[in-house]
Amino acid sequence: MTTQPGIFALGTPEHCYLELDLEPGRSAEDLVRGVAGLTGPLSSTGGVNLVVGFRPELWASLAPEDSPADAAGFDEDIVGAGRYRMPATQHDAWVWVAGGDRTAVFDNARSVLAALKDVATVAGEVTGWLYMHDRDLTGFIDGTENPSLLTAAQVASVPAGQPGAGASIVLYQQWRHDSAAWESLGMVGQEMSMGRTKPDSVELAEDVMLPSAHVARTTVEVDGEEKQVFRRNVAYGGVTDHGTAFVGFAQDRWRLHEMLRRMAGATDGIRDGLTGYLTPLTGAYYTCPAVEALARYAPPDED
Ligand code: HEM
Repeated sequence: MTTQPGIFALGTPEHCYLELDLEPGRSAEDLVRGVAGLTGPLSSTGGVNLVVGFRPELWASLAPEDSPADAAGFDEDIVGAGRYRMPATQHDAWVWVAGGDRTAVFDNARSVLAALKDVATVAGEVTGWLYMHDRDLTGFIDGTENPSLLTAAQVASVPAGQPGAGASIVLYQQWRHDSAAWESLGMVGQEMSMGRTKPDSVELAEDVMLPSAHVARTTVEVDGEEKQVFRRNVAYGGVTDHGTAFVGFAQDRWRLHEMLRRMAGATDGIRDGLTGYLTPLTGAYYTCPAVEALARYAPPDED
């Protein structure tokens, strides 16, 4: 089974993320057929990559054998230390259009909406872009500890032989940054919050790393083995309202949710240093089915 290739297609500077809800009166299958029908024409002729996902329960209702075992929606807010909350804003489908130029992404995202107008309504749209090549809007290099493309597929997709083989679970969250407050921390304060140095992304030594540092919070281990995720975060927004579109893929939902719970302080009362300056506005999980599973719902190729 093949994981959707756009997940690993690095190097695209322009992004559009659409969250969609099923149109009342239409079935889950109508929505899946509509979305599956997009992938052929758009990804081959439009000059863009397309990655699609569905509310995990919606996809599982049609294709239980092609669903990752622990896939489930983000249906309840995470409540952490000091009643800190990460909101649950689950929708029915997610479409990520990525490409080399803004026009291609804009035109193709409009085609997506036109093709789906009878089966889905738009619940959210985010336009993403790259800041300083590989930094997020905190100014730090984002992705240093990402698995390389040699191992990313193992991290991001369900292994062969398991239910949902080749599928990936994405956590999609929009985080607004309070850039002025973040900048007021100064470089040392920022580095202590992140757990890495700012210019060159070197991990801080164990004896100075705070337990609240972001990289400490998002290190999740089971029996000494680190549970990795594959992140494709980008910047979004303009000068007055901006932040990070967090886009993280994994072979199970548990590790993503555990990272969030640790960031919120839900596990041990220690909140992530970033959460004083960055605010999650949305949060949803989507199952991105394997290509072969998706193809069963697509119209046959014309040639
Ligand atoms: C606005 C929100 C976020 C920003 C700006 C951000 C930024 C960063 C940066 C700059 C790093 C260090 C460099 C690197 O290894 O990539 C990092 C590491 C990491 N982040 Fe985030 N992050 C955010 C949210 C999240 C969330 C929500 C998760 C998980 C659910 C997460 C998971 C991770 C992981 C797993 C690492 C690597 C930790 C390690 O092994 O050292 N991040 N993030």
